[in-house]
Amino acid sequence: MQLQDILFSQGFGTRRVCAGLVQQGRVEVFDPEITAWLGVGDASQDFSPENLRFRVQGTEWAYHAKAYLMLHKPAGTECSQKPSTWPSIYSLLPGPLRQRPQKGAIQGVQAVGRLDQDSTGLLLLTDDGQFIHRMSSPRHHIPKVYEVRTKHAVDEQQVSRLLDGVVLDDSPKPVKAADCRAVDHHHLRLTLTEGKYHQVKRMLAAVGNRVETLHRSQIGQLRLPADLAPGQWRWLSREDLASIGP
Ligand code: URA
Repeated sequence: MQLQDILFSQGFGTRRVCAGLVQQGRVEVFDPEITAWLGVGDASQDFSPENLRFRVQGTEWAYHAKAYLMLHKPAGTECSQKPSTWPSIYSLLPGPLRQRPQKGAIQGVQAVGRLDQDSTGLLLLTDDGQFIHRMSSPRHHIPKVYEVRTKHAVDEQQVSRLLDGVVLDDSPKPVKAADCRAVDHHHLRLTLTEGKYHQVKRMLAAVGNRVETLHRSQIGQLRLPADLAPGQWRWLSREDLASIGP
């Protein structure tokens, strides 16, 4: 694959911009045989993209045919490309991830589901539309674990009601937590397998309590790593992807 096409596929701009980056000497490619970075001047030079390591203007990238990443969403950010009040989570990502070419009008990676502006924790992003579709399908029942700090003390009755099901105004059937345990008097660990609008907040309100803070710690078997600080992102490994689910 030509170097300019590789750069284009990874979100470094139009083919013309990518060719310009190469011609201006801003792109280097790692040669594993001599374990050294080499400048490339010819944008049409062919490389095998899998396992290719390259640097653009000094920043190293690894080629990813599809992008799958996790972000530790900080509080005070919106999961929208066009946020109304707060900064967008997309502003936490480097430009190429936001510019990866896709079919149609969409560009770049998209969040898989959303967290509220004041919620924190594990958020997945990808440019794989089928993955988003699978993850969002209610058929797959992927468990998501939320750490909930509550305004009022949690009691056994609230836990039982959340497990048995509470009625929300947009659902004909009661909505149940797949799991719910009180970690301490003001901390609930709630597992949900669906993702209705403000679901945790509305479920807590339905049992007479109130969410003070909400943090998503796990999706499927994938946990938010302790060393990923709020606002940081990282690529998902093959093992991470397998641990998520569908
Ligand atoms: N439920 C909510 O109420 N808010 C979130 O951000 C996620 C789940």
